[in-house]
Amino acid sequence: MNNLSVLLETISSYMSEKRFRHTLGVIELAKSLAKYFDEVDDELISYAAALHDVAKERPYTELVELSESYGIHLSSEDLDTPEALHSFAAPALILKDFPDYSHPDILSAVKNHTLGDVGMSTFDKLIFISDYAEFGRNNPHSITVREYLISNLVENSVEHNLKILDNAIVSAIESTEKYLLSKGKKINSRSNKLKESLLP
Ligand SMILES: [Fe+2]
Ligand SMILES: [Fe+2]
Repeated sequence: MNNLSVLLETISSYMSEKRFRHTLGVIELAKSLAKYFDEVDDELISYAAALHDVAKERPYTELVELSESYGIHLSSEDLDTPEALHSFAAPALILKDFPDYSHPDILSAVKNHTLGDVGMSTFDKLIFISDYAEFGRNNPHSITVREYLISNLVENSVEHNLKILDNAIVSAIESTEKYLLSKGKKINSRSNKLKESLLP
């Protein structure tokens, strides 16, 4: 692995300026949250955050091909959720274009960053919630979740912090589900199962 600024220079050619700014926001939040979780490597999470949306601007057919080439079975629900396909495609694109960064924690976190999955690691959860709540996201619920995390995480309290992180994820998914239902859209079963698994 190289240093972050070299990686970012390459990544900037994969996306719009707006998405690149969002990516920088995800790096910033992921790094600041990771400080509360001793087992999470600061540098590694920066690379995962940097790479999480690297496949976002690829066409649908390429996203499907990339996902399948990584051995991901896309259900009909996944195929009907085009906004999430870039997550499933990201591991294969990283293996192809950024092989130095194909660390298993990075590949898992990018795959799970949009919909989540039952049994996600703390590392995965930090990328998921940083994508949802990064500093550039101005919708009211992203702000609420960001402020909840910042004001409730405390140093040297692993169990407490894991609970806060799970609460934030449940709240983010609940808000997304409410929005989808209000638009007459289906809620996603992966996210819903993750939410159910994290409820007290
Ligand atoms: Fe994304
Ligand atoms: Fe993102």
